[in-house]
Amino acid sequence: MSEKSKRSLSGIKSTGVPHLGNYLGMIRPAIDLQDETDAYYFVADYHALTTVHDAKAMIDSTYDVTSYFLSFGLDPNKAALFRQSDVPEVTELAWMLSCITSMGLLDRAHAFKAAKDRGEGGSVCHGLFAYPVLMAADILIYDSHIVPVGKDQIQHIEMTRDMAQRFNHIFGETFVIPEGQVREDVMVIPGLDGRKMSKSYSNTIDPLLSKKKLKKQIMQIVTDSTPLEDPKDPEGCNVFALYKLFADEEAQAEMAANYRGGNYGYGHAKLALFEAVNEHVSPYRERYQEISRDRDMLEDVLQSGAARARERAREVLDRARAACGFNKRSS
Ligand code: TRP
Repeated sequence: MSEKSKRSLSGIKSTGVPHLGNYLGMIRPAIDLQDETDAYYFVADYHALTTVHDAKAMIDSTYDVTSYFLSFGLDPNKAALFRQSDVPEVTELAWMLSCITSMGLLDRAHAFKAAKDRGEGGSVCHGLFAYPVLMAADILIYDSHIVPVGKDQIQHIEMTRDMAQRFNHIFGETFVIPEGQVREDVMVIPGLDGRKMSKSYSNTIDPLLSKKKLKKQIMQIVTDSTPLEDPKDPEGCNVFALYKLFADEEAQAEMAANYRGGNYGYGHAKLALFEAVNEHVSPYRERYQEISRDRDMLEDVLQSGAARARERAREVLDRARAACGFNKRSS
């Protein structure tokens, strides 16, 4: 076991290849914590099952997410990387949490509300409604202290804290109360259409696909129709917002000056953005192309990560079982 005293944990759904928002909001911050914390990261395939109903897509996407983590620098000797479904104990804990969580709390969850607002009220599956409960179980079952997430997950972390406090209040001290960790510099990543980058809006930029695809996606970013000759305001432009995440201060100032000076079109800005992103991701893309082919290696990583994760999960689950008055497992 690691000597590091703080545990970090995060998950990412296996609903296709991760996009730039996932990378900046969660994958990079999570990897950055692998040296200073006891790190546990997983592919949230149980959560993906709320929408992915195709075994091949689930398998492919799980390996893709795993490959992304490894390509971007996750070291499986430092951080445990595993499949959520390889630790089925988490579903048992989710049930316990379900029994102390009000429907009213879940009714207010953004993901469920958004599905209802899209008119899917009647067809929303129970898994989507209960999503925050399983997510709370994911976090609490490892005694997690720090949860690096994108801004869109803050509400889920708050709900997790609510559930943990309530459980502790009812059954006695059982769970660690976790803290979300959101990077201030990458609050909301705009997608191609300016809305938050999200698979459900089909507005994503996929950083490790081919260079050609990356360029094509970046050239599709929506901008206003200010003519090329006219000065433009860099703030409020999606291209510039993304550029700021990849370029150093000098380059950012130069682009801002170009915008304000006129005779600088959005096409120019998009090309500069493409160059900056491409330069950043090129080495990772090369690694991804190799790593993603080696499924035996990926499976080995996932299995050894699951073995580590399961050990801790069992300990916490036993604690929760005892608190509820269930027989303590002999494991
Ligand atoms: N809900 C997260 C997302 O959609 C994925 C997730 C599942 C997660 N369980 C988690 C993130 C636990 C952090 C901690 O991206």
